[in-house]
Amino acid sequence: MRTAAFAERQAVAAFTWAAEKFADVPDQLRRDWRRQVPEEQKHHDLIVARMAELGFGLADRPVSRGLWESLTACATGAEFCLKIARAEERGRRAAVQLVAFLADDDPLTAAIFQEIADDEVAHVALAATYFGWSPAQD
Ligand SMILES: [Fe+2]
Ligand SMILES: [Fe+2]
Repeated sequence: MRTAAFAERQAVAAFTWAAEKFADVPDQLRRDWRRQVPEEQKHHDLIVARMAELGFGLADRPVSRGLWESLTACATGAEFCLKIARAEERGRRAAVQLVAFLADDDPLTAAIFQEIADDEVAHVALAATYFGWSPAQD
């Protein structure tokens, strides 16, 4: 869950950064990125609140900076959009697996990850809408 919370916080930062940085994508896509930021923040807050209920803290365990470095190295908005869509799709699939795993033992946590997985469908779809990408291509 700590990894998932970090990924959501990273998504907040990445979409905020990309909406400022990339002038080479349609204005509408930059608006779509900005519009997504509160939803990524909601995902982060839902996970952190549930972790607190379960008695876990956000300990200072090292988390990988690899994705962040790879995202901020993108030369174009299209490259960023495709790269983050792949990462979000991986996260969405992990959330779907977690939901199945937790369904019986921890339905509250499962419901949080189900909501996140449902929201991520639209995030991943931006790469399809603007650049014709689909997860099946990978
Ligand atoms: Fe998210
Ligand atoms: Fe997302």
